[in-house]
Amino acid sequence: MDHLLEALFPSADQIPEAWLLGEPLEQREYLVGGELRRWDGPLATVNSPVWLKQADGDSQVVLGRAPLLDADTALTALDAAVQAYDKGRGAWPTMRVAERIAHVEQFLTRMREQRTAVVKLLMWEIGKNLKDAEKEFDRTCDYIVDTIGALKALDRRSSRFELEQGTLGQIRRAPLGVALCMGPYNYPLNETFTTLIPALIMGNTVVFKPAKFGVLLIRPLLEAFRDSFPPGVINVIYGRGHDTVSALMASGKVDVFAFIGTHKAAAALKKLHPKPHRLRAALGLDAKNPGIVLPQVDLDNAVEEAVTGALSFNGQRCTALKILFVHEEVVDEFLTRFQAKLTTLTPGMPWTPGVALTPLPEPGKVDYLHALVSDACEHGAQVLNAGGGQSRGSFFYPALLYPVSPAMRVYHEEQFGPVIPVVPFRDLDTVIEYVLDSDYGQQLSLFGNDPATIGQLIDTFANQVGRINLNSQCQRGPDTYPFNGRKNSAEGTLSVHDALRVFSIRTLVAARFQEANKTLISDIIRHRESSFLTTDYIF
Ligand code: G3H
Repeated sequence: MDHLLEALFPSADQIPEAWLLGEPLEQREYLVGGELRRWDGPLATVNSPVWLKQADGDSQVVLGRAPLLDADTALTALDAAVQAYDKGRGAWPTMRVAERIAHVEQFLTRMREQRTAVVKLLMWEIGKNLKDAEKEFDRTCDYIVDTIGALKALDRRSSRFELEQGTLGQIRRAPLGVALCMGPYNYPLNETFTTLIPALIMGNTVVFKPAKFGVLLIRPLLEAFRDSFPPGVINVIYGRGHDTVSALMASGKVDVFAFIGTHKAAAALKKLHPKPHRLRAALGLDAKNPGIVLPQVDLDNAVEEAVTGALSFNGQRCTALKILFVHEEVVDEFLTRFQAKLTTLTPGMPWTPGVALTPLPEPGKVDYLHALVSDACEHGAQVLNAGGGQSRGSFFYPALLYPVSPAMRVYHEEQFGPVIPVVPFRDLDTVIEYVLDSDYGQQLSLFGNDPATIGQLIDTFANQVGRINLNSQCQRGPDTYPFNGRKNSAEGTLSVHDALRVFSIRTLVAARFQEANKTLISDIIRHRESSFLTTDYIF
């Protein structure tokens, strides 16, 4: 391990030329009302999780600086969005669906041109390895394509009239107003765009604030946003949440709050809104997804899935397996195979092919993980794997903790990092109680092959979490499937299709089925007097 840690951080001349960043990026631009405006106020330093080896020790790479807008400036972005929405009468919310789709398609074309720039910054800003960074970019593009497809399908269904009890009706989905979209640092592109794009395409106007890390990687997309949408439809702000987002929420002008982060932050921000019934929320929050390994099990598969489930992107996924309950009959073998598999994960720099474990972007995270491990050890657990819990700068080598009990912090806290707590169990009720009593309810994984036990557990857990994974790790994808959570884990359901619903409301135009009304409606449609009341069929 000493050798691995010693070789971890490169010297400047060891960085492959393709991934060199050059001079630190000083970003002063932000997007408001269709203009890239210049911010002359204070800037935040953007550090990389990557450190460089130097003669006098390691030093953290400074990537650049980004605007720290104040509340008044953030409010100008909100005003631009409010103006573009114009109480629902703006060009964007009243535009025909086919035209809105054309704007989003234009954006997608421009976005694809920035793939290399964004992928490079994903690696440098959050330490995501090259393969996963490329996957995040491509998955986001696919999500946009699928969203367009889903909206076309929705619109086709809405383009006809219905006749119920003598009332003729056309039901369409209409936008809600101004959306505030904020994503998380672990998927600063993908998760943000899974709310941003549906919000836009349904006719809402948007204020978007990038995540706390993964800020500079939005910069290459600002021109594409500016050129692809009418002024004020999409506005991008930067700065501390406390200085910017609080003011936006307190203004009462936000209609939809799309946020991925902690439930505490979401609750505090929602409380600031003076008109709670006006505000709709789409929230992805904390999770502590358990993996449950039963005595009758394909252990190779369980280990394979548990390792990737717990350690993809160093465990920094909301869907990561954050605690493993393993039956006493198989726990020894499970732990042996888990450790063997763990040794195949290569630590290194994000751009190095085959690297699985990378440095962590959050300041203080390594100390936090050390504290969790120490606490568990003080209460009777051991770090089983060689080198587990050793660190260097921003890098923390995964710690496999066993046996973990309720007395330990890691049993309860969402570690969001490379610490794997394993709890042995004999009685299934121990595990069932954990799930029932948990404050979280996103997903869980069941590993086993006894139909009676699995069937019974599915029934027990179906009312506890949003997704039960059989013999596979927890995950969000495929993006056409619902993604949600119970308790403190989420509010609302997202999927390609569901997100279109979240950012819109069904609106009905109804009329008695009488000659005069039939003539009126026919004339409106024939002469294209309305963009809402239409039978246009989008191909
Ligand atoms: O961080 C939470 C993400 O939505 C997880 O997505 O399961 O595809 O990694 P994923």
